[in-house]
Amino acid sequence: MDDPANTFPVTDSLLRRRSKEELLNQSAKVIWMTGLSGSGKTTIAIRLERLLHSKGFFTQVFDADCLRATLHSDLDFSLQGRAENIRRIAVMSRIFLETGVIVINCFISPTKKMRQLARKIIGYRDFIEVYVNASLETCERRDPKGLYKKARQGMVKNFTGYDSPYETPDKPDIELNTDKYSIESVVKQLSDFIIPKIILKNK
Ligand code: ADX
Repeated sequence: MDDPANTFPVTDSLLRRRSKEELLNQSAKVIWMTGLSGSGKTTIAIRLERLLHSKGFFTQVFDADCLRATLHSDLDFSLQGRAENIRRIAVMSRIFLETGVIVINCFISPTKKMRQLARKIIGYRDFIEVYVNASLETCERRDPKGLYKKARQGMVKNFTGYDSPYETPDKPDIELNTDKYSIESVVKQLSDFIIPKIILKNK
């Protein structure tokens, strides 16, 4: 998984990222949300995107529903399938980053190793790890897609938090606790953290 071939080749003759960022008047970043299913990643991403858009930032949200049904329909929920899911998303995010776009990702990305690989592919300066923290009990209670119930009944295998692991990030760039705080509050915490990082400096 840590094969150096996973690093992103940059071709000198291509128009540089900075030129695109200047056109868009923003500094591109990848905001990578990790957390259990039902922790609130996609809800936060949708609100954050609307907020950033209203302030003139050019963004793109990716989540499991859009990718796993399409580009990644060949991948399962084994740890291997998840690692490949995260690797491809990281490569795609890097391409968007080089295009000057602010990417907002919502994927469980359950292991530290997978997130490390994503950070490496995207680049350390541009990867912002957001831990969306809600307890398993809360996520089970919310159960927006009815998957926790199915996992409990044994109808869904390899379900994160049941028979598949989730490794809590040690040092996320920011942690949002959706057990304790409202969606409005965590979106505000996140946008206050993000906006200074996406304003283009030294114009
Ligand atoms: S990841 O582990 O590879 O990062 P990803 O975020 O793409 O997972 O997909 C998670 C979403 O797929 C969940 O929110 C849920 O809707 C759905 N899903 C279906 N089966 C599973 C499963 N076995 N474990 C976790 N999520 C699942």
